[in-house]
Amino acid sequence: MPGDSLRGDLRTSKQDLLAGRFIRNAWYMACWSADLAPAGILARSILDEPVVLFRKVDGTPAVLEDRCPHRFAPLSQGRLLPGDRLRCAYHGLEFDATGACVLNPHGARQIPTRARVASWPVVERHQAIWVWLGDGPADPALVPNFKVLDDVPEHCVTRLDYIRIEANYKLIVDNLLDLSHTSYLHAGTLGNADTIGSTVDVDQDGGDILVTRLATNARPPGRSAMQWPDHPERVDVFTRMRWMAPSTLNLLTGICEIGAPWETGTGLHALHMLTPETTRSTHYFFTAVRFGLRTTDPAVNREIQEKIAAQRRYAFEIEDAPVIEAQQRSIERAPRPLSPVVLSVDAGTVRFRHAIERLEAAETG
Ligand code: FES
Ligand SMILES: [Fe+2]
Repeated sequence: MPGDSLRGDLRTSKQDLLAGRFIRNAWYMACWSADLAPAGILARSILDEPVVLFRKVDGTPAVLEDRCPHRFAPLSQGRLLPGDRLRCAYHGLEFDATGACVLNPHGARQIPTRARVASWPVVERHQAIWVWLGDGPADPALVPNFKVLDDVPEHCVTRLDYIRIEANYKLIVDNLLDLSHTSYLHAGTLGNADTIGSTVDVDQDGGDILVTRLATNARPPGRSAMQWPDHPERVDVFTRMRWMAPSTLNLLTGICEIGAPWETGTGLHALHMLTPETTRSTHYFFTAVRFGLRTTDPAVNREIQEKIAAQRRYAFEIEDAPVIEAQQRSIERAPRPLSPVVLSVDAGTVRFRHAIERLEAAETG
């Protein structure tokens, strides 16, 4: 797709990034399941909304507004009591898992009608806890499909990881839908000179956007080579990123013999769950599930596993995040609306921006 035909379509203005627009009617990942221990309490901002998560006695999670209606102290600083009640640390009001105040220890112990906090639908699935902050029906069938994380052998899944990035989530989606940056920002590990010339195809699968990059007859990038110790000198390097609205992505990536079907190669499903914290910060959860393992040696597999986890964290935290955060600041500082130059590699990103604008418009009417 020629870059000129895309010109002007990729808006990254300060107004666009800071307008406070979020898709509210969607499931967002709040944390990994393991982050919320039995009887645990976890505070987190999601879509600029302070929320507190806790586990009920039956083990299921609950999500409440993290702001006591009395003097607005965060309930997350309080204590979880028997009967799934959260007690405010400041003056002792108690709230149940629906957000209703169930105890006022003061005066005649009457409970004021306004003494309640918001509660939101929550689902635990794919080793993660998902919350719905919209006012539309919270259909559990709409939780993003990360079935690849279900019942996966321990030696196939890498660390369930997390970083926080000081940038709007759209800049991170842009980053993930345009993997041409791997040849530069992650040169040697995730990309190399041979992958610069990859073909790029953009497709739609229902509401999902698929961006496929293929470099044939290429030297394998370091991470893929490490997964296949006696790999051929030249291979096909494939990546197919699937964006699921509004902000989760599933990447199929790997190497195979030149011209062979991808499933005969080795690689991983690289999973990215982005949850806006504020308009200018994002919770970034990630992990990877390997396929086409080339060895059954548990010690070698464990070593590969740990290297993949470390490489991915390094790539996102040390290589991607500083550029994306600087990009956010650069856009914020701009004294005038910006009109970006658009390249052929931006085809998926442009498609994403159009899709998200349609969703935003549908929510705001
Ligand atoms: S602020 Fe929570 S009881 Fe006073
Ligand atoms: Fe990257």
